[in-house]
Amino acid sequence: MLLFLFILKVKNMTLSVVILAAGKGTRMCSELPKVLQPLAKKPLIKYVVDSALSLNPNDISIVIGYRAESIKSLFSQSIFNWPLQKEQLGTGHALLQATPYIQGDITLILYGDVPLIDAKELNQLVGQTNGGISIMTFDKEHPAGYGRIVRKNNKICAIVEDKDCTSEERKITEINTGIMAVDSNQLKLWLKRLSNSNQQKEYYLTDIVKFAAEDNVEISSYKALNEITISGINSKSELAMMERAYQMSLANKLMDEGVTLIDPSRIDIRGQLVCGKDVIIDVGCVFEDKVILGDGVHVKAYSILKNCEIKENTVIEPFSHIDESVVGHHNKIGPYARLRPGSTLADNVHIGNFVELKNTAIGEGTKINHLSYIGDAEIGSNVNVGAGTITCNYDGANKHKTIIESDVFVGSDTQLIAPVKIGQGATIGAGSTITQDVPADKLTLSRTEQKTVSDWKRPTKK
Ligand code: UD1
Ligand code: CA
Repeated sequence: MLLFLFILKVKNMTLSVVILAAGKGTRMCSELPKVLQPLAKKPLIKYVVDSALSLNPNDISIVIGYRAESIKSLFSQSIFNWPLQKEQLGTGHALLQATPYIQGDITLILYGDVPLIDAKELNQLVGQTNGGISIMTFDKEHPAGYGRIVRKNNKICAIVEDKDCTSEERKITEINTGIMAVDSNQLKLWLKRLSNSNQQKEYYLTDIVKFAAEDNVEISSYKALNEITISGINSKSELAMMERAYQMSLANKLMDEGVTLIDPSRIDIRGQLVCGKDVIIDVGCVFEDKVILGDGVHVKAYSILKNCEIKENTVIEPFSHIDESVVGHHNKIGPYARLRPGSTLADNVHIGNFVELKNTAIGEGTKINHLSYIGDAEIGSNVNVGAGTITCNYDGANKHKTIIESDVFVGSDTQLIAPVKIGQGATIGAGSTITQDVPADKLTLSRTEQKTVSDWKRPTKK
């Protein structure tokens, strides 16, 4: 990219990017516009915009039509131009709507539904425009549906749309990916010459290639290296196929960095996953937003981690959910643990099955091993929270805090009615309902005394 910027600088050239995104995407059978459909949780068009931004263009125009406002609202930046194409009369007509905004010397045309374009290859394409057109092509064994690159004496002279092909042209396997870079001044002149006298009664952008040939302007091509980078999405099954291909590429990247994936075809990364050394990830795990796994972390099967950090040598047992939390090192979490937003765990903490934490800080060496709800709490170190302990943090109107100081032992099936504080080293007898602060180092319990009714008889069936 640096080289490319250097070339443009030397030539004193600037770049405009136009992204075509006005189509509805009828075959998606969805209320959501096609370019907003998610690939790894991120809308398709965001991939295209990110690649465009990485080229440092002078301006970016996104041509919108169907559900224009919902596409626009996805972006906070006002740096984009939003030409509106009210009726979808073809790719040439779409580009015509963008021409008032094009200020760069070269215009790069991208599609909002082709997400995995490679910025390095786009650089290459733009760099070889030379005052004319540079077309990204691909050799497709089954080219049906695509525009064909027609050559005379090996020189490109036209792109013919599938529906307009002669039977000879239909055999051509070199296809137009739709991505091209064009000299902006020439483009503006050629667009004025477009007509819609073709099979689809559309203004084809691809007809500018014919004009360029007539005007003896240079037409070059760049063959994309990898099909996934030029693949567009038209249906849910294509979306699913691209999702798998994309996930596999992310999995391969992780494995190249030394991560052990028990099955690379059974991992889903929907955001950024950063892994230290010797991380092991078992099957069926989902990672969302930004997840950081420290050295030696082991995430076992079917766990869902979102926006969290897990520090060194912690083990996440199967079926655990962790959301917006920080987990210290050498912890053991799960199976079936749920860490909700705002949970911060120090080192050597154990959180067992069916334990739910929310907005809770837990000190070193503390154990909450079974069936508990701990919310809006601050727990010290070396505390043992018995099975079935519940912080009653919500009075129906407001949330209140529970504080448990270090070295406390909370007996099983205890309810802590917040706000309440348990002093350091205290012991709570099992089955207690604690409504008042508990002193340090003493046994506190609230229970009716046990009695035996000697003349009681078990009822019998009549
Ligand atoms: C286009 C190319 C074809 C190429 C193929 C690659 C033309 C005439 N044909 O065909 O050579 O092989 O892409 O996939 O350019 N769009 C608008 N407004 C419109 C029409 C389209 O914004 O009026 C947008 C769509 O939302 C889409 C993109 O342009 O993102 C391509 O449109 P599409 O209808 O899929 O083009 P194809 O007919 O497949
Ligand atoms: Ca298409």
